Amino acid sequence: MTDPVNAAWSALKSLPKPTLAGLFAADPGRFETWSARLDIPDGSILFDWSKTHLDQPHGDAFLALADAMGFAERRAALFAGDVVNPTEGRAAEHTAQRGVGNEASVEAAFAFHARMQVLVEAIHQGALGDVRHLIHIGIGGSALGPALAVDALARDGAVIDVHVVSNIDGCALEAAFAACDPAATLIAVASKTFTTTETMTNAASALSWLSANGVDDPYGRVVALTAYPEKAIEWGVDETRILPFGESVGGRYSLWSSIGCPVAMALGWQDFVAFLEGAAAVDLHFRDTDGLDNLPLRAAFADQYYTRLKGCQTRAVFAYDERLALLPDYLQQLEMESNGKSVTADGAPLDGPSAPITWGGVGTDAQHAVFQLLHQGTNLVPVDFIAAIAAGDALDPAHHRILLSNCFAQGAALMAGKESDDLARSYPGNRPSATILIDELTPAALGALIAFHEHRTFANAVLLGINPFDQFGVELGKDIARQIEQGNATFDPSTEALLAAAGLSA
Ligand code: F6P
Repeated sequence: MTDPVNAAWSALKSLPKPTLAGLFAADPGRFETWSARLDIPDGSILFDWSKTHLDQPHGDAFLALADAMGFAERRAALFAGDVVNPTEGRAAEHTAQRGVGNEASVEAAFAFHARMQVLVEAIHQGALGDVRHLIHIGIGGSALGPALAVDALARDGAVIDVHVVSNIDGCALEAAFAACDPAATLIAVASKTFTTTETMTNAASALSWLSANGVDDPYGRVVALTAYPEKAIEWGVDETRILPFGESVGGRYSLWSSIGCPVAMALGWQDFVAFLEGAAAVDLHFRDTDGLDNLPLRAAFADQYYTRLKGCQTRAVFAYDERLALLPDYLQQLEMESNGKSVTADGAPLDGPSAPITWGGVGTDAQHAVFQLLHQGTNLVPVDFIAAIAAGDALDPAHHRILLSNCFAQGAALMAGKESDDLARSYPGNRPSATILIDELTPAALGALIAFHEHRTFANAVLLGINPFDQFGVELGKDIARQIEQGNATFDPSTEALLAAAGLSA
């Protein structure tokens, strides 16, 4: 690390660390200072960081760190479509999918989207006959985003009923088969590389299921979503049903490309466009806003405060919205696969922690399961609460009122704590949380929420000096699984014994 970087970290470490109570006592108006509203199409998102330990001195010192780490230059490189993934020699052009970025890449994305729109609308209009179900087969970034978006936005009824299947465990695919009429089912094979074992195995089994259930031309029922169309053609998919996207769109950032096809299939094209527009609003904010007003950057400052200055090993996200139940899973891949690294972008060992472990769940369920530890456990866990002001249900408004009351109560309780002579009944308090409040869970709001987290993840990577766009950590396990499958290698005694116990020895 260069000197200005060390100096910035030293300054951050040496600053006084007031308690949350102390911060509010010194500045009762801190909600005004540490909350912000981000405008998105047809609404806004309110972010409240006043219950975190960020204060002006830390804000200023983090800005000095961001300067020292070249934040403005790295952000400009991201949006310019320059190589920001040096280990793989690639750009990271997910924002271009939303219309913000390198002009040529934006145009290319627009052309790919136009092709997708034609296919989606043709299917909706019956060009492929009776289509009522779509089994979307992918894994990781080729499944988590579609699963989240469809679950969040299509609960009131979908144009086409979508089932996302990722696991190689056949139980996952069987559950989808049980819910679908094979005569009215399309299979989307979603894989950036079109080589992933789980996806290709599941896809082959889905074709066998169609064929075993009377579908004459199973390949005719397949849509391929991939950055390598030639591999899909080789596999047997007709070129007219291949929806390509650019290689510079990373797997866990690919929801905005044709990997998002099931979202358009379920919701209709206009809602998919609204989803992209919500994300684009955040892109423009992130690209064009400097200093603490840049909200993904500010969120990253809070993340670094807890990870680097307080040694927190995890961060938790609780969606007080049943429709966002899959958001923690999505954020786990986004944050942990991007920033769970031990090496800097220059190839040097990292001199401190990188990404914390992202975990979470939905409120109020989680309150009755894991919140004990948040309130009284020995781990300090910074928490994000995410909720919508408008209810997603049509039941007695008491449901939503109680849901939101609980959400706000948890943040208040974590911060205030409560003294008692009985230690078992005392709460230490001074535990941080941030709250993200959307007006209403619309396609635009979900797009904005996801894009906010993408940019927050990028900002964290810049502050740490790491490359968030590669994922070599997943390769070794894949290699060993391949060797086991091939049956011509030997392993450690424990693994050998497990293979023998399961009848998998060569
Ligand atoms: O193994 C990790 C990973 O490469 C993820 O980054 C990616 O989202 C997932 O696998 C699926 O990859 P593909 O879309 O190429 O099938």
